[in-house]
Amino acid sequence: MEVIILPTAKQVACYGADVCESLIKTKPAAVLGLATGSTPLALYKELIKYYQQQHISFSQITTFNLDEYVGVSASHSQSYHYYMKTQLFDFIDIDPGNTHIPHGDAVDVQQEAIRYEQLIHEKGGIDLQLLGIGRNGHIGFNEPTSSLNSITRVKALTNATKADNQRFFGLGEYQPTHAITMGIKTIMQARQVLLLATGTNKAQAVKAMIEGPVCAMCPASCLQLHQYATIVLDQQAASELI
Ligand code: F6R
Repeated sequence: MEVIILPTAKQVACYGADVCESLIKTKPAAVLGLATGSTPLALYKELIKYYQQQHISFSQITTFNLDEYVGVSASHSQSYHYYMKTQLFDFIDIDPGNTHIPHGDAVDVQQEAIRYEQLIHEKGGIDLQLLGIGRNGHIGFNEPTSSLNSITRVKALTNATKADNQRFFGLGEYQPTHAITMGIKTIMQARQVLLLATGTNKAQAVKAMIEGPVCAMCPASCLQLHQYATIVLDQQAASELI
């Protein structure tokens, strides 16, 4: 596990975008694992800039997102389908047919999770998986107590995660309680992992991930066992490290 500490969140995003850029340059048909949430937003802005400046093309790239809420359709403004479209896909030359996100509104979500995991393998696996970290140490929606051997499946969201997400849903609106998420084993099978964390609200989770024992109570701690994991932090997220 390589840990890189940079002065600002902006530098974290640029570092992450540079890692993506160099992979795309060396492997134009790479398979990227993508995350949503607030952390990767600045990185996606950088990637759009690199595309507009003609540094990179996404025309042969395939993507797999980590997760999607159960019971939320792709057109819902809080769906991860909508997020990816409006934060990245609409602004680059990616073939929409090569972008994959679990269908949270599938009739049979268990079957959808199995299909998704199989598809990742059929496409040759993930070259670079981008991750954020939850305040409770989750990666994807692998909440504390998730099996370190888990594959893509339906997971119940913890109260802490539901509380964190509440601000995105209107008063009285349906708020998801479950998500389809890649498992920890799925993430660990990516050939390279890049986790970004910024801000003091992530400092405790970052400490547990890097200095704590490898355990299901902090799912991100499994990255200590990955052969090629890079953790990029701003000074605030690194503030609890010894
Ligand atoms: C997003 C995801 C989550 C987030 C994590 C951090 O697809 O799977 O694990 O990466 O909750 O979210 P932010 O970046 O909003 O703090």
